[in-house]
Amino acid sequence: MVCLGNICRSPMAEGILKSKLDDTIFFVDSAGTGSWHVGNKPDVRSIAVTKAHQIDISNQRARQFSYQDFKNFDHIFVMDQSNKKNVLTLAKTQEDQNKVHLILEELSTKSTMDVPDPYYDTELGFEIVYEMLNKACDCIAKRI
Ligand code: 4NP
Repeated sequence: MVCLGNICRSPMAEGILKSKLDDTIFFVDSAGTGSWHVGNKPDVRSIAVTKAHQIDISNQRARQFSYQDFKNFDHIFVMDQSNKKNVLTLAKTQEDQNKVHLILEELSTKSTMDVPDPYYDTELGFEIVYEMLNKACDCIAKRI
């Protein structure tokens, strides 16, 4: 799960998808394309919204996406077009590129393809992002 800062959207996506998969089979992680927040906990609003849905993400720490992630993961879900561009810049092969997908492409409705960045938004913005990610992760968990 990849976003820009790895403190708002992708930590929620990591926690949500983990809650839907068997952790003896699937390894789920998240990262940011930027380095500003490396080592930080998720944003307090991301922690609060996921906690309200019985998911604890408070132990996560932000890290930066790196080329090694193409080797370590089978699927790379990005939150928006900008994340996609930044991740694809690091891809070396067609196989790397094929792993990268906008997470909302998982939804059949495709009403909006970007998960909005809630960093400068209110708590409601975080709840809306949670709902989007929860629906997308349901589809991912069923598919894989
Ligand atoms: P995220 O949100 O990409 O969902 O973690 C952001 C968090 C911090 C910043 C940007 C986006 N920032 O510019 O510090």
